[in-house]
Amino acid sequence: MKLLITGGAGFIGSNFILFMLEHHPDYDIINLDKLTYAGNLENLVSAAGSRHYTFIRGDIADAKLVHDILDTRVDAVINFAAESHVDRSILEPAAFITTNILGTQILLDCAREKRVGRFIQISTDEVYGSLGPSGRFSETTCLHPNSPYSASKASADMIAHAYYETFGMPVMITRTSNNYGPYQFPEKLLPLAVTNLLEDRPVPIYGDGMNVRDWIFVTDNAEAIDLVLHKGKEGEVYNIGAGYESTNKALIDSVLRLMGKPESLITYVKDRPGHDRRYAIDPSKIINELGWSPRTSLDQGLKATIDWYSTHRAWWDRIKSGEYLAYYEKNYAVKGLKGY
Ligand code: NAD
Ligand code: DAU
Repeated sequence: MKLLITGGAGFIGSNFILFMLEHHPDYDIINLDKLTYAGNLENLVSAAGSRHYTFIRGDIADAKLVHDILDTRVDAVINFAAESHVDRSILEPAAFITTNILGTQILLDCAREKRVGRFIQISTDEVYGSLGPSGRFSETTCLHPNSPYSASKASADMIAHAYYETFGMPVMITRTSNNYGPYQFPEKLLPLAVTNLLEDRPVPIYGDGMNVRDWIFVTDNAEAIDLVLHKGKEGEVYNIGAGYESTNKALIDSVLRLMGKPESLITYVKDRPGHDRRYAIDPSKIINELGWSPRTSLDQGLKATIDWYSTHRAWWDRIKSGEYLAYYEKNYAVKGLKGY
């Protein structure tokens, strides 16, 4: 198979490429990535020498470029490319609309014109909005996005679904919960906490710390997407979640325990506006229909993640300078965090 993976230099995309090269060594992979602040080719140094891997720097909204790539007879497109951070979508929403909605529509158009055999839209549980203390999101839960990020992802999902219904395009959508693991940009809670703690800096927790997220180790998500690629049914949505719900406070307590750091490094800061209270995924469909199951417990995954950031300091040291510091200041100064 020949795959076009977009956004493959980001966190999940690069983990997915490494997973696919290992599990399908005869597949050809083209990685199209714009290399925004979140794209990092260091994630893929081990792939760079492979004759089955090609990197192209470019935008999914560049129809001419995408057409040229698809002309090389691509079998499937897997669209990871996105602006992905909720806090940035609150500070500056425009890029989220451009890439996540318009970019996806252009990619869909190109794939439709070139009659690509499979199109997987990588989406998120955030499109469903926020849950109360009980219940879980199923694939039929109504979409109720609450942030500019999740609204842009929900829009892309609806456009992708419309291309299936209207044009008969072979589209599938995956909606995954919070991923964590190696190569995650340290703006997201877990890598931010781990890297701050490695420097004995405070970990900012929003609001009362009781917001709940459902955590999945990134290679378990990669395996699920691989299954959807090969066994998924056209027009279907697949929720992907490992069932490890945790409040942010409990999660950071586990990280502190595993790293041997004191509770005093937690700093409560002003809440994120529109902060969704709880996410929880019902993954029964992908378990029952495609035979997927997660392999990594939260405890194993946290240990592996802490270990990775501890032994890859050069990777995150290079990121945590320049643009990152400007963003950190902008996001956290207004929330009352001092001393970075
Ligand atoms: P990320 O921010 O780490 O990576 C995004 C990648 O997309 C970067 O390499 C960036 O350079 C690239 N990109 C951005 N705009 C582009 C454009 N216009 N053209 C080409 N490339 C572009 O994101 P991530 O956490 O790896 O998330 C990947 C996908 O998974 C996203 O679609 C996100 O919505 C979805 N998702 C993420 C999570 C999570 O927990 N991280 C959970 C569910 C779903
Ligand atoms: O649920 C899937 C989504 O998970 C993905 O679609 C998004 O791309 C991804 O960024 C992630 O979104 P979240 O907003 O849940 O992730 P984040 O790591 O930003 O925050 C996780 C929780 O931690 C959330 O409740 C906000 C809180 N938080 C976050 C940061 C960055 C803090 O308390 N302090 C922080 O400094």
